[in-house]
Amino acid sequence: MNVTWVMGPPTGEEHGRYLALDLGGTNLRVCEVSFEAFSDFEVLINKNPLPEEVKHGTAEELWDYVAECLQRFLHEHHTGPSEKKVPLAIAFSYPVTQSSLRSGILQRWTKGLDVKGVEGHDIVPQLEAAIGRKVGAHLEVFCTREEPSALISLQGLPIDIVAVVNDTVGTLITAARQDPEVKIGSIFGTGCNAAYFEEASRIPKIHGRSNIPDDALVAINAEYGAFDDERKVLPCTRFDDMIDQSSARPGQQTYEKMVSGLYLGEILRMVFLDLHESGALFQGADPTLLRQQNVIDASFLSAIDLDVPGSVQEMGRLFKQKLGIEPSLPELRICRQLVEMVGIRAARLYACGIAAICKKNNWSTCRVAVDGAVFENYTNFRKRTMAALGEIFDWPPETETRITLQHCKEGSEIGSALIAALASEGPRRHLLQT
Ligand code: BGC
Repeated sequence: MNVTWVMGPPTGEEHGRYLALDLGGTNLRVCEVSFEAFSDFEVLINKNPLPEEVKHGTAEELWDYVAECLQRFLHEHHTGPSEKKVPLAIAFSYPVTQSSLRSGILQRWTKGLDVKGVEGHDIVPQLEAAIGRKVGAHLEVFCTREEPSALISLQGLPIDIVAVVNDTVGTLITAARQDPEVKIGSIFGTGCNAAYFEEASRIPKIHGRSNIPDDALVAINAEYGAFDDERKVLPCTRFDDMIDQSSARPGQQTYEKMVSGLYLGEILRMVFLDLHESGALFQGADPTLLRQQNVIDASFLSAIDLDVPGSVQEMGRLFKQKLGIEPSLPELRICRQLVEMVGIRAARLYACGIAAICKKNNWSTCRVAVDGAVFENYTNFRKRTMAALGEIFDWPPETETRITLQHCKEGSEIGSALIAALASEGPRRHLLQT
């Protein structure tokens, strides 16, 4: 449960142009968002895949890559040198300890990232140093070649880092600006997590600080992907144990490894392989591809787990293309059931996390804004989660659903830009700089 120093929902007054850098588990997105007060916004986004060597390299390599992508974005989208630095928020989808909005000490990497030299350090000075290196390097180019393209670099990267924001908090803020009934922001993508607003008086970590009124609302990043790392509550299977053991960080993110997109394909692959090796499935087939780690990803499940008649043929094509296997029709039916089992378990466990936050706050109705590619593309996931919530809260059949989930596209980036706006101006500015 991390205190984020995001104090209350936006008012709608936010306006101006802000930058956000979103460092997730799969991509690095650089965006510029322009807001008008009490109105809509415009967003420009550049998506850069995070190369494997960067995911497992050093802090310097990671931040140099980030600075490079940022510079390219500024170069493409800014026509001339600007007098004023643009406020930038880092949307950082990993657990950080924050002593202020503008700092974030990485607690641990999740989602398979394993960059040396970042855990235990504040990411803001690390990125600033990389930006400094970039400016220095381009100054040299400018002096020797007088390239016009170096002009923007000569200015320094015209940015000012004002906030470190978890993706769940960004999503909460984006959705709450449009709909005040939204109480939870969540991510269901490569990873899984949620955030909500808590009254300061109910947060032992900060309660009693003289500059924070008891009734101030503070966004809490639940970081519940790490729920039950002691393995006392969740009904883990031997496949979960295998996923954990083969991961970059065994013993961590137990709940996330049972639920989120990064792991669903791998769970399914292990079940298929186990059944094949025991002679129950894909008899006579060549399992070479099936033995490859991560050959199946979450898109495989969402492509199969559809309510469309005739999808068995489509499924056959997918097995051939991805796994080099041509299952018989009865085998395809079994596989379909296995996919459903993995998908249903994920949705039911995901519902538990949302339900826990609602129960803690005694909310009987709530809107949940969810961002993340798996939520967006896995069509059966939303309705299964809602059904599971109905079971947890024991709503009588035919009752109108009281906790609803809505997609909040690019919530993380837009919300981070909004938080940059809140940090740069507005009445709560002093609180944000605690
Ligand atoms: C991280 C969270 C993040 C979630 C969704 C988890 O692995 O620990 O900080 O919100 O993934 O991206």
